[in-house]
Amino acid sequence: MLGATGTIGRATAAALVQRGHDVVCLVRAPADIPGVSIRQVDFADRASVARNGFAGERVDAVVSCMASRTGTPDDAWAIDHRAHCHVLDAAQAAGVAQFVLVSAICVQKPRLAFQHAKLAFEAALIASGLRYSIVRPTAFFKSLSGQIERVRRGKPFLVFGDGTLTACKPISDHDLAEYIADCLTDGSRWNRILPIGGPGPAITPRQQGEALFAMLGRAPRFSRVPVALLDTIAAALGLVGRIVPSLAVKAELARIGRYYATESMLVRDPATGRYDAEATPSAGTQTLFEYYRAVIDGAQPVERGDHAVF
Ligand SMILES: NC(=O)c1ccc[n+]([C@@H]2O[C@H](COP(=O)([O-])OP(=O)(O)OC[C@H]3O[C@@H](n4cnc5c(N)ncnc54)[C@H](OP(=O)(O)O)[C@@H]3O)[C@@H](O)[C@H]2O)c1
Repeated sequence: MLGATGTIGRATAAALVQRGHDVVCLVRAPADIPGVSIRQVDFADRASVARNGFAGERVDAVVSCMASRTGTPDDAWAIDHRAHCHVLDAAQAAGVAQFVLVSAICVQKPRLAFQHAKLAFEAALIASGLRYSIVRPTAFFKSLSGQIERVRRGKPFLVFGDGTLTACKPISDHDLAEYIADCLTDGSRWNRILPIGGPGPAITPRQQGEALFAMLGRAPRFSRVPVALLDTIAAALGLVGRIVPSLAVKAELARIGRYYATESMLVRDPATGRYDAEATPSAGTQTLFEYYRAVIDGAQPVERGDHAVF
């Protein structure tokens, strides 16, 4: 397994262990993951991945939840593409038959460096001849929880436009992990690209805010942020970034924010460009609003996403 120290990776490692698999996690730094063996490798070095990771042993399948933590272009190409190519090479050399990859639903409309990096590895995996399952999830709960604390402190909920520009079908870490683990044994998920969301209808940012205010027993209060503001920031950073490289990175992060402010995390019809909640498959049982309730009650800590805009 790759990426077992991340949000979905930890949940997936637990789901694999719970199913009785013998799980070996390749990591870049020492880690503590219950029930698995840990091996430290240098993902930038193909030989290290083969020697220290696969170590000449029989391996049935690779499951990857690994991804750049920043989404910046260099990091995305290094991890989402090159590191995965090193693992794929080593897996093929070791006679591995199956590869389950967690990608992202947003690669349907690629505009950002990390999306192109993910697509390039998806293509390499499909071309490899290994049995593959490419899981493209919608939004995770952590990416939709950044405003719980500010709303609790009495501040308004921030939305782009009127808060209905986008929608998603959020999926919990646990439900997604179950779905990923079952890709190993469910033949209907082999050699397929699998968009997947959580249960229930699609939810807009405005509905997220309304639910939070209702749970806190307060009247809804929204602050509207114009999308044009993000365009201006991204354009300005992009210009200055041609001279100052660190600002080029910030420009890409602004473009990531702009993308999520305007694109739904749902299956998209390539012919019309429209996002379709009905066409977005659902899995699992846990809902975003149950999670919000658990966070408000103090039963659930919030993990912030690196790409969270607010
Ligand atoms: N957030 C969302 O709403 C969302 C929605 C759809 C799809 N996705 C996709 O789902 C996948 C999993 O996301 P996540 O939030 O679970 O990821 P995450 O918490 O950021 O974890 C990333 C994992 O990749 C590893 N990693 C990162 N850089 C590495 C490097 N240089 N060398 C070795 N390992 C490295 C991390 O290891 P360390 O612990 O050592 O950093 C960690 O195990 C990603 O592909 C993401 O794009 C996310």
